[in-house]
Amino acid sequence: MSALKILIIPGSTRAGSHNVRLAAAAAYQFVQAGVDVTRISLADFPLPLYEADVETSSGVPPQALNLKRMIAAHHGVLLVTPEYNASVPPLVSNAIAWLSRVDEPPEGRGAVFRNRPFAIAAASENRFGGVRVLAALRLMLTACNAMVIPSQVALAFADKAYNDMDRLKLPADMAALDALVQQLIETVQQTT
Ligand SMILES: Cc1cc2nc3c(=O)[nH]c(=O)nc-3n(C[C@H](O)[C@H](O)[C@H](O)COP(=O)(O)O)c2cc1C
Repeated sequence: MSALKILIIPGSTRAGSHNVRLAAAAAYQFVQAGVDVTRISLADFPLPLYEADVETSSGVPPQALNLKRMIAAHHGVLLVTPEYNASVPPLVSNAIAWLSRVDEPPEGRGAVFRNRPFAIAAASENRFGGVRVLAALRLMLTACNAMVIPSQVALAFADKAYNDMDRLKLPADMAALDALVQQLIETVQQTT
């Protein structure tokens, strides 16, 4: 089988984002494990706010199609998201809404999620590490028929978690991320 390809999607486009830094730390660990990693920014896939009338009048925007094809070109996905009001931030929720509407023949609507291994992670400055968004995001992705792996990372005190190279400082954080990385790799190997 060809090299495993993992796509990493940070759910924040903020300068200095803790989640972009966690995505960078994860990318490093995937590369160490011999995986081909692509790390994107959702800023490169600007989408209007999902609205059914917009879809009816204008169709699914090309950026949603591009994002869907980007995901489809990889064996698995790691989504690294902030927590907003205990749930999924609008940037991530909106992207998932549009992706679930992409209908490229012959696959059918929302097919990019179907049985595709996803891992989820969150970073927050508080002590809970965004664990509530992970529950909400798991539900959302599962409803889209994605295969969300059990292992997940809720990185607490994210403002103090990284060194200058965007690597995690605490062994416990590194171990949690490594467990997620290994489980996503194993899941992809079993399903590809
Ligand atoms: C509208 C809003 C709601 C938020 N709600 C939560 C929350 O429920 N839990 C939490 O841990 N942080 C919450 N935060 C703080 C974000 O987690 C924090 O801004 C984080 O740094 C955003 O992620 P980023 O650094 O990757 O951009 C909230 C921030 C905003 C703007």
